[in-house]
Amino acid sequence: MNQHARFEDRAIPFIDVAAQRRRLGRAVDDAVARVLAHCQFIQGPEVRALEAELAAFCGARHAVACSSGTDALRLVLMAWGIGPGDAVICPAFTFCATAEVVALCGATPVMADVEPETFNLDPASCERAARTALELGLKPRAVIPVDLFGLPADHDAIAAVAAAHGMLVLDDAAQAFGAVYKGRKLGALAPATATSFFPAKPLGCYGDGGAIFTDDDGLAALLRRLRVHGEGADKYDTVAIGLTGRLDTIQAAILLEKLKVFPDEILARDRIAACYAAGLAEVAKVPRVAAESRSVWAQYTIRLAPGRRGPLAAALKAQGIPTAVYYAKPLHRQAAYARFPVAAGGLPVSERLADEVISLPMHAYLEPPVQDRIIAAVRRALAG
Ligand SMILES: Cc1ncc(COP(=O)(O)O)c(C=O)c1O
Repeated sequence: MNQHARFEDRAIPFIDVAAQRRRLGRAVDDAVARVLAHCQFIQGPEVRALEAELAAFCGARHAVACSSGTDALRLVLMAWGIGPGDAVICPAFTFCATAEVVALCGATPVMADVEPETFNLDPASCERAARTALELGLKPRAVIPVDLFGLPADHDAIAAVAAAHGMLVLDDAAQAFGAVYKGRKLGALAPATATSFFPAKPLGCYGDGGAIFTDDDGLAALLRRLRVHGEGADKYDTVAIGLTGRLDTIQAAILLEKLKVFPDEILARDRIAACYAAGLAEVAKVPRVAAESRSVWAQYTIRLAPGRRGPLAAALKAQGIPTAVYYAKPLHRQAAYARFPVAAGGLPVSERLADEVISLPMHAYLEPPVQDRIIAAVRRALAG
């Protein structure tokens, strides 16, 4: 960044990881130094300590730390024995990892549509997807709702559809650790919840990481085996086919420090989202959060009439303001996923959103003058 550029021309980061580093000061460096001193890089004491803190934070009985959000999802499907002939319902408007893990298990992802206001799995389309699976001769085994952009999906309605078809629910909260649905934190809602600690996530580490939450003692024990190659009584006793799926001790040490400021960061994100909503509701469709829920605002995503997104992104870019589009192509339009079945009735909302959404800079350290500059620039561009 050019220190001498005028304030209104300075480049704004989309997510400012460095600002958080400045706040945490030496705490993270010291935590890493402690691991370098004790040398237990794999399954060191910080991993257990983090698991206890994460479980307490969200109210789940067990937290199982693992190597990424993708592996968190995959380990649960493996533990549930999901495989060929099984269908797993996924929203089409998500990051590819949600469906990737299903295909990796040899099962069939069946794409369902999302709701236009929340961007999250539409329970009615989920129901249609389960019937589509049955018509194709597949057994609907599970559904993976995604809490997209940090906002919880409609978990009660999805649980009802899942129960009607005997499906398990694996919540993909990769973007939403810390979010609240009807007064309860994600992690304590579904039979299993997966999250990601990718650096850009609301609670991110300094590399790859993830965790699984569950109240099921048997599932937690199996997940702990599967993340270390299906280890039995000891390292060289193998009782299941597993993965190298552990979280590094260094990442656990970093997360323990970051978790201390996380509640405060969630409040800051909420304040920033409220400012965006107040400043932009007249010119764009802004996200809405249900009364008893709370988003952790992994992204702040607005909707515009088709055709307006490209010019807005270009106008903002010219002023040093980055934007991103999550997701320009829903899963069923991706080359790797186009062969998988979609719910009866199609995916019209996912297709429309792919043309309408644009995300603005969002992180807990977005200063008011910088946010004012972004809001003013968006308003100017959309008025023009
Ligand atoms: C919805 C969703 N699911 C799963 C993942 C996978 O997480 P990871 O990158 O930690 O593997 C991501 C990551 O971006 C995600 O956004």
